Amino acid sequence: MRKEVVLITGANGEIGHGLITYLGQQGKHRILALDVQPLDESLKPYCDRFIQGDILDQMLLGRLVAEFEIRTIYHLASILSTKAEYNPETAHRVNVEGTLNLLRLAVEQSQWQGRPVKFLYPSSIAAYGLPDIVTKQKAGKVKEDEWLQPATMYGCNKLYCEHLGRYYTYNYRRLAADAGKTSVDFRCLRFPGLISAITVPTGGTSDYGPEMLHHAAQNLPYACFVRPDSQLPFMVMADAIKSLLELEAAPAEALTRRVYNVTSFSPTAQEIYEIVKKAFPNADITFEPHLSRQSIVDSWPADVDDSAARTDWGWKPDYDQTRAFEEYLIPVIRQRYSGPNKAL
Ligand code: SER
Repeated sequence: MRKEVVLITGANGEIGHGLITYLGQQGKHRILALDVQPLDESLKPYCDRFIQGDILDQMLLGRLVAEFEIRTIYHLASILSTKAEYNPETAHRVNVEGTLNLLRLAVEQSQWQGRPVKFLYPSSIAAYGLPDIVTKQKAGKVKEDEWLQPATMYGCNKLYCEHLGRYYTYNYRRLAADAGKTSVDFRCLRFPGLISAITVPTGGTSDYGPEMLHHAAQNLPYACFVRPDSQLPFMVMADAIKSLLELEAAPAEALTRRVYNVTSFSPTAQEIYEIVKKAFPNADITFEPHLSRQSIVDSWPADVDDSAARTDWGWKPDYDQTRAFEEYLIPVIRQRYSGPNKAL
């Protein structure tokens, strides 16, 4: 008998941490975790099995098909937007070919199981591309089907993988005699910048938000790489995990689309600075905009319209801006860096 599991790729990443910790504490699912790096100690107790390996390794994925019955895939592994600009072709391989490999694995699993395999995929506000700052300021809350001309390799990868997910769900091998017999149930969230009190992101462009906070809490100087007026949507990690799990659990007939915006609050960098300064008055924060990273932020929407998620599956964040900082981020971060395990 093959073991029934939930597969989580990118286990060590920020969302991986949040999701594995949550699901592990719930104890309802066996977790099969995959990452290119050795699994973080803190996640080990929650995982039934960990495999260190690359999503580009087809042999490895083939072995997973043979050994496990994978009911749901959370495909979180990805190279984020800033890092991807330093090596766009590598990013394309990991972000696109990696996703294609996982979709293929979902098809094979669904053939074995004779039922659809759910495929949860985090996309991003990077899928949008506004041509200039004036357009950004005028655009307001951007809807899922607007402004889809991403300016980064990461954004192109995410948008294309959304299309692939839709294709695998509705049209996979549509000319084959047995077309429609297997299925992938692809469900995708376009996340805003995510902020966690426990982990910091690596290689993203919305990182100035979490970095400002984590540096201040550790009494480290921080040079913010965007202008004070830069505005992006953000959400705390707990809400990101909640949205993933709610979308996973939503009845198929409730979904009017495969890709949903979710968001919570949209501060400017200046507002984040003021909140951080109030909590950590000695914080040494300066603004030193990096022109290229700034241009990426300027191409992403200041806010997104998440009414489709609210209507279809009852999405509502638990943390607005005040609650996010006052009740979660600041107290937990303070504690995080005052205990014996200060460093991240
Ligand atoms: N937070 C991501 C990044 O900055 C966007 O999804 O790359």
